Amino acid sequence: MDKLRITGGRPLEGEIRVSGAKNAALPIMCAALLTEHALALENVPRLMDVATMAKLLARMGVELGPQRDGRIELRAARVSDPQAPYELVKTMRASVLVLGPLLARCGRARVSLPGGCAIGQRPVDQHIKGLQAMGANIAVEHGYMDARTERLRGARVVMDLVTVTGTENLMMAATLAEGSTLLENAAREPEVVDLARCLSAMGAKIQGAGSDVIRIEGVASLGGARHAVMPDRIETGTYLAAVAAAGGKVRLAGAAPETLEATLEKLREAGARLALEGDAIGIEMAARPRAVSLRTAPYPGFATDMQAQLMALNAIARGTALITETIFENRFMHALELQRLGAEISIQGNTAVVSGVERLQGASVMATDLRASAGLVIAGLVAEGQTVIERIYHLDRGYEALEGKLAALGARVERLR
Ligand code: UD1
Repeated sequence: MDKLRITGGRPLEGEIRVSGAKNAALPIMCAALLTEHALALENVPRLMDVATMAKLLARMGVELGPQRDGRIELRAARVSDPQAPYELVKTMRASVLVLGPLLARCGRARVSLPGGCAIGQRPVDQHIKGLQAMGANIAVEHGYMDARTERLRGARVVMDLVTVTGTENLMMAATLAEGSTLLENAAREPEVVDLARCLSAMGAKIQGAGSDVIRIEGVASLGGARHAVMPDRIETGTYLAAVAAAGGKVRLAGAAPETLEATLEKLREAGARLALEGDAIGIEMAARPRAVSLRTAPYPGFATDMQAQLMALNAIARGTALITETIFENRFMHALELQRLGAEISIQGNTAVVSGVERLQGASVMATDLRASAGLVIAGLVAEGQTVIERIYHLDRGYEALEGKLAALGARVERLR
């Protein structure tokens, strides 16, 4: 299994380009199931998760062109096998995003339950509840959701909690339903908006994406479209946090600053100087960061996917920070690994108390999930000596060209095979 060796202690300098958003690309690829026409995507990141989604869609009969320069064309002329098997769903939970489109297009779907994962239980009850309200019959048997329907009917769905993929699944299903659907307590994440933009380009009638009430007027069929995936706000935030922790001066091109207000605010509080020029973000950090407390929340609150990175920053900050995780119940695995590097962190329920230390020391650590790994990379960049991160397949799932981008900023990073 590949490892990453980082020799820390160098400030980051230079310019890199932000990739397309993983969490927008995955649902948008699933939208291809809703039409027999071609969906041409641009700015698709080259990632393990994108390859896994491509494999899943190909199994169902979707024709996929090669992925070149961020472009990929998908065409579901017919869907031969509307199933998502356990082997794929267990490696990537976002596979559950095929459920809504398959039901809408084929009237049936068999999708494995995702099961637990390193960061918590992550049930899919809200996806099921919404589709049932739209007239689907869903039996959960032998670890699979077996769903059937004639044509889905529009419905009013009030979600019990804010779920991103739940909102996306229901929004996609509703595009082809009979009549109108109202999704209340919908997720407001920018990736939901990007998906709505792509669906609208395909002919869907959607209003309110980006607010907590989304109205979808069902249409009889959708057409093809061309769509450029939005920039990855979590990747952007990760590099910004790395500079805020390690120091230096960096420019990130091709970003969407308006989608990461909460992160930018925390980085300013930590002492970073930020300059926004159109789609570029400049960051400069000259001193040791100040501790910044935070609480994760659905968008526009502070993203849970940025929590580990800010914990790494706080590990070497001046002062003590309280980090409260409200979205996932078991998302502090990185705290134990950061302690191996010398961080002082104590966990009390869903709050981590991080007392900043002046220096971290390199050590061997284990990546446990995607964003936890990003936190460890940041810690490795500031630690003295060498940090070896094991199980970096987690990073390959969600960060395009991570070593290349870090090397371009002057970091000493090597992949050990
Ligand atoms: C998405 C993101 C992930 C991010 C998360 C929260 C994708 C592909 N992944 O994941 O990177 O960390 O949003 O911003 O976009 N829940 C239920 N029942 C449900 C659905 C969710 O109880 O039916 C709970 C979950 O257990 C969790 C919370 O709701 O506690 C939020 O989860 P959700 O927004 O659904 O996360 P994902 O969409 O899986």
